[in-house]
Amino acid sequence: GHLWLVVPAAGQGRRMGADRPKQYLPLAGQPVLARTLARLHEAFPEARLCLCLDPDDGHFDPAWVPFADWRRAPGGAERVDSVVSALEAIAPDAAEDDLVLVHDVARPCVTVDDLVRLLSAIADDPVGGLLAARAADTMKRDDGAGRVRTTESREGLWHALTPQGFRYGLLRRALGEALAAGVAVTDEASAVEAAGHSPRLVSGRRDNLKITHPEDLILAELVLSAQELAAQA
Ligand code: CTP
Ligand code: MG
Repeated sequence: GHLWLVVPAAGQGRRMGADRPKQYLPLAGQPVLARTLARLHEAFPEARLCLCLDPDDGHFDPAWVPFADWRRAPGGAERVDSVVSALEAIAPDAAEDDLVLVHDVARPCVTVDDLVRLLSAIADDPVGGLLAARAADTMKRDDGAGRVRTTESREGLWHALTPQGFRYGLLRRALGEALAAGVAVTDEASAVEAAGHSPRLVSGRRDNLKITHPEDLILAELVLSAQELAAQA
């Protein structure tokens, strides 16, 4: 089967508050989108890409796409709508059991090593799985009025990262059913869980951060240069 990469890149970056969507801001001299696609291509040069873009996007440049086989899909109102749109766009060429990895364009620091480990961890898995990192901080639940009600055990708690990878047929059905049922679909795994499956947690690097707020751009630059130094050592 084929390996598909779905990259939702149709967000507006409201929390970043910049003059354009965050995927088009420069990160160490290159747009975030170009850096993210370069990492994915380094790991999976033969994969097919579907990029979700806002139909009114005025910043995208196809020169940033290193894949030979790629297409675009119109982004929707929410991230999940953009992913569903991509799954529709690849429907004519995707087989039910093709693997689809969904990766946020706003995560340019994902490493080739994590990408390859995720793929090998789920390649023969009947369900699929996601990169995730164990929670490191003590977790508090509030009382709704700004004070602590309880301290939650962080034992067994993980941060869900991307990519998240599932079989095409399973993912498409799970997302459709979750949307129809009004389930909050914050990531692909949550839809697959709502369909009664248990995605595999693949331990990934904690520096696979999602650029969300302005200070995250500075952090991401530091992460990229630290990763480059480590690669040279
Ligand atoms: N995304 C998308 N379509 C949407 C909303 C988000 O493709 N309608 C994408 C974003 O481009 C990003 C990923 O989903 O790669 C994660 O979303 P988020 O970090 O929330 O990005 P934005 O929605 O752009 O940011 P904000 O929520 O601050 O506006
Ligand atoms: Mg958003």
